[in-house]
Amino acid sequence: MDNEIVEKRSLTPAVDLFVVSAPEIASHCEPGQFVILMAGEKGERVPLTIADFDRDEGTITLISQRVGKSTHYLGTLKAGDRLYSLAGPLGLPAHVHEKYGTVACVGGGVGTAPLYPQARALKAAGNHVIGIIGARTADLLILEEEIKGVSDEFYVTTDDGTKGEKGFVTTVLERILLEKQVDRVIAIGPVLMMKFVCRLTEEFGVKTIVSLNPIMVDGTGMCGACRVTVGGETKFACVDGPDFDGHQVDFEELMERQRFFREEEELAFEKYKQECRRNADG
Ligand code: FES
Repeated sequence: MDNEIVEKRSLTPAVDLFVVSAPEIASHCEPGQFVILMAGEKGERVPLTIADFDRDEGTITLISQRVGKSTHYLGTLKAGDRLYSLAGPLGLPAHVHEKYGTVACVGGGVGTAPLYPQARALKAAGNHVIGIIGARTADLLILEEEIKGVSDEFYVTTDDGTKGEKGFVTTVLERILLEKQVDRVIAIGPVLMMKFVCRLTEEFGVKTIVSLNPIMVDGTGMCGACRVTVGGETKFACVDGPDFDGHQVDFEELMERQRFFREEEELAFEKYKQECRRNADG
């Protein structure tokens, strides 16, 4: 049945993986594209980049981190449940079917999920793929085996040193940039991580593509919620992206806009938690 969750797994205590039946989307989605889903009738619209797809099975894989009310509710759904709505594929496909040479694929936290299909396609196109993934701590690392499986070289970092190298993805990336020629960098993760990766690669003159995940509402370029400034021009991440040349992105503005609704989000989440507690108490 369309929109049915056929598999659900927890990747970390706060990150869920869903394989969803969506034959129409699976038939023509490409790495880099995303969907907007509503877990329940009253939920928010949640944009999630497609982490994998299986055209034969007619399924797509979505990975969601529980951060607010809607993503926590999504996390309560199980295999056999249906998403209330699912729209996509949205956005432009990433340019990952070309041969650039050596490509460093850098993923931070849950950003590793959308990185995976891009790394896989770059590898299939004959690129030498260097996978670098990082998280705050070992428990928050996801898709390690998957990224490793499509990488010619593979590195893991954690901020606290609980796995791989202690430090940030940029520490490893800088070392690699000093050692060898890298022709392109793909960076997907927290905005701050992407900003620092771009600052670094700019020094080395290596083109860097980032995938932006601003607040989205309609996903069709009509509402303006996902406005970002790239190269001094206004762009809409949902139709002009989500991938952009990282050296052109105004990261300060993006971070500012992400903070816009934080108070409302926290209030909604608090209310939701109280409702859940009331329901649990009967
Ligand atoms: S989400 Fe509305 S314009 Fe992009």
